[in-house]
Amino acid sequence: MDKLVDKGIKRLEWARDHMAVLSTVRDDVKDGGYLEGKNISMALHVEAKTGILALSLAHAGAKVKMASCNPLSTDDSVAEALREEYGMDVYARRGESSEEYYEHLKSTLEHDTHVVIDDGGDLISMIHTEREDLIDGIYGGAEETTTGIVRLRAMEADGALKFPVMSVNDAYMKHMFDNRYGTGQSTIDGLMTATNLQLSGKMFLVVGYGWCGRGIAMRARGMGANVMVSEVDPVKAVEAKMDGFRVVTCKDGISKADFAVTATGCKDVVDTEAIMAAKKGCILANSGHFNNEIPKDVLENLSVSQREAREDVIEYIMDDGRKLYLLAEGRLVNLAIGQGHPVEIMDMSFALQTLAAEYVVKTEGLEPGVHDIPRELDEKVARLMLQADGLYIDSLTEEQERYMNSWKEGT
Ligand code: ADE
Repeated sequence: MDKLVDKGIKRLEWARDHMAVLSTVRDDVKDGGYLEGKNISMALHVEAKTGILALSLAHAGAKVKMASCNPLSTDDSVAEALREEYGMDVYARRGESSEEYYEHLKSTLEHDTHVVIDDGGDLISMIHTEREDLIDGIYGGAEETTTGIVRLRAMEADGALKFPVMSVNDAYMKHMFDNRYGTGQSTIDGLMTATNLQLSGKMFLVVGYGWCGRGIAMRARGMGANVMVSEVDPVKAVEAKMDGFRVVTCKDGISKADFAVTATGCKDVVDTEAIMAAKKGCILANSGHFNNEIPKDVLENLSVSQREAREDVIEYIMDDGRKLYLLAEGRLVNLAIGQGHPVEIMDMSFALQTLAAEYVVKTEGLEPGVHDIPRELDEKVARLMLQADGLYIDSLTEEQERYMNSWKEGT
C-alpha cells in the first residue's frame, strides 16, 4: 500500500481507538436517524481527529465534503487516507496557496448543503457572500472556535446571519478543556518540535489571557519557564497576576522574552514597537486562529535579511544585528507544526460537533443566529468522558435536591 495512505490509516486508527466519547455519540446519532442522507460541508483542520469526526458523521448516514480551515494545518497522510481508503471528499493540502484554500472551501459546497461545520468562520462567511443560493436548504451550522464565534456574532449584530449556528466553542465541555488544556499542550508540542530548545529557565511571554492563553501559561510554567503575561483586559490581567504570573506590557515582556506566544484572536498584536524591542534570539509564535497576530510583513520590512534556519523556522536579522525567529509563518503553531490538541480533548469537542449537527437538523423553529449548546448535551459529553475513564460521581438525594431548589429553608 502507498506509504502515505498507510501512515494516514494508522493515524486515523490511533485517534479512533482513543475517542471513546465520539464513538458512543456517533452510534446514538446514527440510531436517531436525523443525519441520514444529509449533506455536510465542513472546514476544519484536516488531521486524524477531524478525520474520525468526518467518518463518524458518515457512519450516521451523512455525506461529508471536507476542506481545511487553515492552509498549513493539513496532515497530508490523513487527507490521502480519507480519500483513498474511505472514499471521503477531502479538499486539502498542507501548504496550499491562498487561492487553493478558497477553491477548496468552495468545493465543499458542491452539493446541496444541509449542515455546515466550521472552524474560524470562513466557510459560513463564504456561503453568505458567494453561495446565498444554498441558504434556504441549510438547517444550520456549528462553529468550533472563539474567532469564528466573534465573527458570527458580528454577522448576527448586522442582521447578516441567515441560519442558526451552534456555538460549540462556548460549550463548557469545549472551551474549558480544548481551549485551555488542548492549546496548552499542543502549543508546547509545536514549540518543542520546531526548535528542539529547552523551555525550563527561559523567559516566556504569553500575549492574551483568554482560555487559550491561560492554558499556554500554565503548561509553559509546568515545563519550568518563567512566564509573563500581557493583556488589554484589566480583569484578565488581575486573574493572571492571581494565578502567579508576572503581568507586563507586550513591549516590556518581549524585551525580556526567549519565547513569545500570541493567543488573542486580535490582529497586529506584536507590533513594530514590540519587534523593535524584542530580545535577541526571541522565538515568536502564534496560537491564535489567524496568522495576523504577529505580522510577518512587519518582520520582513524591519529586517535586513532572512533565511530558513530550521524547518518551519524563519530567522530574521535586524539592522542592529539581533536575530529573531518566527515559527510557521505566524500560523497557529500547535497545528502547523504540532499535532493539534490531544486526542482525548478533541474527542469531547467533536462529540459536541456531532451532537450540534444532529441538533440543528432535529430542532424545529431554531431562529437564525448564534445558539448555545443545550446544557444536557454538555452534560452528556461530560458523563461519557467520565465513563470512558472509569470515574464515578455522586448524585443529590431527593431531599438535597429539594433543599437546593428552595429559598425558604436556611440552615
Ligand atoms: N485538531 C483538529 N481541530 C483542532 C483544533 N481546532 N484545535 C486544535 N487541534 C485540532
